[in-house]
Amino acid sequence: MTERNDHPWWERGTVYQIYPRSFQDSDGDGVGDLAGIERRLDHVAALGVDAIWLSPIFPSPMADFGYDVADYCDVDPLFGDLASFDRVLAAAHERGLKLLLDFVPNHTSDRHPWFVDSRTGRDSTKRDWYIWRDPAPDGGPPNNWISDFGGSAWEYDPVSGQYYLHAFLASQPDLNWRNPAVKAAMFDAMRFWLDRGVDGFRIDVLWHIVKAEGFPDNPPNPYWRPGITERDRLIQRHSTDQPEAHAIAAEMRALADSYGADGQARVLIGEIFLPNDAHARWYGTLDRPQVHLPFNFQLIENAWDAATLRTMIAAYEASLPPYGWPNWVIGSHDAARIAARVGEPQARVAAMLLLTLRGTPTLYQGDELGIGKVDIPADRVRDPQELRQPGIGIGRDRSRTPMPWDGAPFAGFSTVEPWLPLNPDWHTRNVAAQERDPASMLALYRHLLALRRTHPALSVGGMHLLDAADGVLAYERRHGDEVLRVALNLTQDAKPLPFAGTVVLSTLGGATSDTLRANEGMIFRPTS
Ligand code: NOJ
Repeated sequence: MTERNDHPWWERGTVYQIYPRSFQDSDGDGVGDLAGIERRLDHVAALGVDAIWLSPIFPSPMADFGYDVADYCDVDPLFGDLASFDRVLAAAHERGLKLLLDFVPNHTSDRHPWFVDSRTGRDSTKRDWYIWRDPAPDGGPPNNWISDFGGSAWEYDPVSGQYYLHAFLASQPDLNWRNPAVKAAMFDAMRFWLDRGVDGFRIDVLWHIVKAEGFPDNPPNPYWRPGITERDRLIQRHSTDQPEAHAIAAEMRALADSYGADGQARVLIGEIFLPNDAHARWYGTLDRPQVHLPFNFQLIENAWDAATLRTMIAAYEASLPPYGWPNWVIGSHDAARIAARVGEPQARVAAMLLLTLRGTPTLYQGDELGIGKVDIPADRVRDPQELRQPGIGIGRDRSRTPMPWDGAPFAGFSTVEPWLPLNPDWHTRNVAAQERDPASMLALYRHLLALRRTHPALSVGGMHLLDAADGVLAYERRHGDEVLRVALNLTQDAKPLPFAGTVVLSTLGGATSDTLRANEGMIFRPTS
């Protein structure tokens, strides 16, 4: 591929996800808020990221902690108001940070006035804004679709004798995007925030938004076995990834692009879980693009070993259209923490991998501190998915615990007991403590992000995978005359170095340069 020098901010930069409930509480209710985020923006700027994505801040009954929106054009009082949002946006921009909101198009809350109206009866003018169907001949749900949170995806409504569709909780009814009025209202909501100055959106479950006409049953998944989430009993062939959803994504992109006359792209990041080929189609075509970045979760989904990751990286890269920019995610408010999955020494290697791969990295709040396993006592579980399907290890509270800022009571997050427990080691694992320690995870993240900023080879350079010993993942990044090589030891044993060079950074510090120590990742400048 020919080298480009015109990379926009979202290709060069790094995205940092803030989960607002758990970032910083400013009003002593144990839940984070916008004024808290504003107060902590210097941490984000000092980290060296380029953009913030805020999980939903809109009015919500919080059945799914904000992913159940009751008004797309306001702020929940728990988080503040439109004025506090404007202050965060201005403060982010002053620090050179872009700000992306979380747009939730597939479903609303059942308390959204549209749904309240829709469920009044078959004659409601909003009836067709949602997906209502008659019962099957036996009186049961219209088809076999399963909610992502378990159980039927259909909820019976005794008032009208019909069922409505919900891909998630029954209190999150799916919108009917085939209705042009729904599309118009949702595009107005996007405009509302773009006009306010946001730099784009992360779009929740984008591949879900349109369902197949006729609502055929989904086929069974032959690989399902007990202990896996109930959703995966079926392949979501007819409930997701429909051509009409791609057409809507292209219209969303045209809307975002219409705001880019100032030369600063408004960016769309689509949440999409699909195999490579289907996933790549969400880039759209050159003349009719869809999202800028279909989120790539494969670092989360794959086993942590060098051979698996090498094969995965090669297959992902090969699946991209020539104009499709890659991206990588290693943690989120839905997934287990990387340090809990692979342990702290490998979480350092993971940080180096995330920040040296080709493609826009997204990192999740708290991973820069290496927060690991947090056991949530049964009486403090809040995640509705976990509450509906306990015991199979899918709880999401473990990655939503509050940010530990310092050694003050409640880690400086709040003045009262927070809504979820803190990480048990917060007395030592907090931002202030790690700022004082040059060997901390935070110091490593800052170093890696600074290198990424100063070396175009790492941010926008080309990449190719290199041969290395078993258990070692190695690759080269190149831009113009600059060449950097990365070698990551994913094992607990020392390994031979795959190449000679000058060490630019080791995840363990003070590197020797003839061996890769156990759990060591290194960036080199090769000796020519
Ligand atoms: C994906 C979000 O990341 C998750 O937290 C949420 O529960 C579902 N979408 C439903 O909106």
